[in-house]
Amino acid sequence: MKGLILSGGKGTRMRPITHTAAKQLLPVANKPILFYAVESLVGAGIREIGIIISPETGDDVKECLGDGDRWDVTIDYILQDEPLGLAHAVKTARDFLKDDPFVMYLGDNLIKDGVGPLVQRFEAGQADAFILLKEVENPSSFGVAVLNGDGKILSLEEKPKKPKSNLALVGVYLFNHEIHNAIDKIKPSKRGELEITDAIAKLIDMGHSVDSHVLTSWWLDTGKKDDMLEANRVVLDEMTEGKIDGFIDDITRISGRVAVGKGSKLKNCTVRGPAVIGENCCLENTYVGPFTSIGDRAKVSNAEIEHCILREDCQILDFHGRIEDSLIGVNVELTRGHHKPVAFRLMLGDDSKVEVV
Ligand code: G1P
Repeated sequence: MKGLILSGGKGTRMRPITHTAAKQLLPVANKPILFYAVESLVGAGIREIGIIISPETGDDVKECLGDGDRWDVTIDYILQDEPLGLAHAVKTARDFLKDDPFVMYLGDNLIKDGVGPLVQRFEAGQADAFILLKEVENPSSFGVAVLNGDGKILSLEEKPKKPKSNLALVGVYLFNHEIHNAIDKIKPSKRGELEITDAIAKLIDMGHSVDSHVLTSWWLDTGKKDDMLEANRVVLDEMTEGKIDGFIDDITRISGRVAVGKGSKLKNCTVRGPAVIGENCCLENTYVGPFTSIGDRAKVSNAEIEHCILREDCQILDFHGRIEDSLIGVNVELTRGHHKPVAFRLMLGDDSKVEVV
């Protein structure tokens, strides 16, 4: 069994953050989203992983993941010149995949449980494909499946205007070589892409069996700012214990599960977990509320932050007024002169400078 992780695309729904970074490299609980996908495959015993990259962000993805040594797996990078769809990505990876079965994992998706049990079920069964589904409130944003009473798939549609069910296709799929024949038979969709949903529907038309499982645990598609914050919240919430490797002075109050990385210093702060503070950060006279992650080398003083993702090398200095529900890019500087009881909701791209006076 091989793994294929899709980490291409342009991340248009996450601009301005994705002007300078691949969306799959954005951190959830201070770890790139893409790492969760790799670790999920590694946990299922998969040792050969192909990563689909785009010309725009491929080098960053390569630099971040490396050659797989860290997980004792091999990673092959496969360039998809244009974002022409998920099925097109599979086509592009044909030389890597050969005729082997594989798990395809969308690099911006997060699911609670590993894929090990799904791989076992697929390998033990007779199906040519296996899909994961999840009940959602906004099915028209996803691929949508209709099942009969026995769980058999009756139809599949990509982002239908009038969805026939609330079961969305989760971005984790298991296939054997038959999917390549189905992909060869489909045409680009209205949005000009070769859709994997259409390819799976074609497999069914061709008489192949497609097994499915409806997830009851969480699934997050981190396409937008609020999805990222929600992913951060859910993952931090699952952090079982705190770990303090940095320096905390006597008057700093820490409650709940809080991780503070090596070389970080906290002076006169209040931190309410779950929260993570990276390495070599400096926090002074600051309140850090639940569901916040602060990247390495951040400097924060006289500020209040809650339910935020703050990336590496940020400086928030003398910022009165709470910063909440915000996603703040790398190396952002934020300062504010006067005290007023207000809140800010921000999405700031890398290298932004904001001064509220
Ligand atoms: C893709 C698939 C869709 C699936 C979704 C899951 O959508 O086309 O069927 O439900 O991923 O994240 P996209 O991210 O391309 O909009």
